[in-house]
Amino acid sequence: MALAILSSGGDAAGMNPAIKKFVDYVYKMGEEPYLIYEGFEGLIDNKIKKALHRDVAGIVHLGGTIIRSSRSKRFLEYRYRKIAYDNLKGHGITGLVVLGGDGSFRGMEQFSSEFDLGFVGIPSTIDNDIYGTEYCLGVDTALNVIRDAIDKIRDTASSFNRAFLVEVMGRNCGYLAIVSAMVSGAEVCVVPEMAFPFEREGKRLRQEVEQGRSYVLAVVSEGSHQTRKVHQWIQETIGLETRVSILGHIQRGGNPSVRDRMMAFRFVIEAVDALLEGTQCCAMVGYNGGAFRMLSINEVAGNTYVLPQELRDVVALLD
Ligand code: F6P
Repeated sequence: MALAILSSGGDAAGMNPAIKKFVDYVYKMGEEPYLIYEGFEGLIDNKIKKALHRDVAGIVHLGGTIIRSSRSKRFLEYRYRKIAYDNLKGHGITGLVVLGGDGSFRGMEQFSSEFDLGFVGIPSTIDNDIYGTEYCLGVDTALNVIRDAIDKIRDTASSFNRAFLVEVMGRNCGYLAIVSAMVSGAEVCVVPEMAFPFEREGKRLRQEVEQGRSYVLAVVSEGSHQTRKVHQWIQETIGLETRVSILGHIQRGGNPSVRDRMMAFRFVIEAVDALLEGTQCCAMVGYNGGAFRMLSINEVAGNTYVLPQELRDVVALLD
């Protein structure tokens, strides 16, 4: 049996350990592993290569994805999906592991409804915003990158009477912002999912500043689109000179953390086993409460991730 792996959408730390485990484990199971380069774009352009152990040697500690990624517009069109399928067939590939986020899985939902192909998705995005799983590959590493950045920002913040606003990624999901605010002792956290009580918090922080608080740390999720507003609010209402740091793509980089390497290992075994058993034609491996479970890709693509209540509760507990 020939099985292939590709990475799609935003890269995430943990993709490389997953790619390495995929190749090693498929060989261990007596089957043939293939690498597809540049995501769905590479699938369309037939950038498909049988993998050797040496192709994936020495990559477990690297961020990004050695097989590269893409956000493919062409894959949205049937004629290109047909080419992609013919390319897979040409190599005798019958099963595909996709490392990606919900956009990639929506593409695969369409693809697998049109063509006969086993496909298992491994949730991989720093945003942690995929329905049906409490963990996505790359999240822990991104959180550690953010924690490290905020720790450094705090060093300078605590040396001045100033506020610091840190904008973090996450697309429309506030997960990264909330966890980062929680572990960094931030006073303010603004996320897309919740209205921020500017007036109440403004009063409280202003009072604290008057009583001697020397600096304020605010974490703002990019998806809230409120960075400018929060900046202005801190300066005008709380009365502290404020600096803004938009962390940007450094959050996607970095050596995969221990957690991401372990999760990559376990996600891949689940995905490959499902393909080998042939029971799951189009599914995603979800991780919840310490256990892995297959979810149909229709269920994943048809639903939206909802931030757990316990994380929403954290926002009110920051002060
Ligand atoms: O989905 C991962 C992510 O890093 C988001 O947090 C961010 O909004 C987006 O990708 C950035 O995309 P790009 O790398 O295409 O600019």
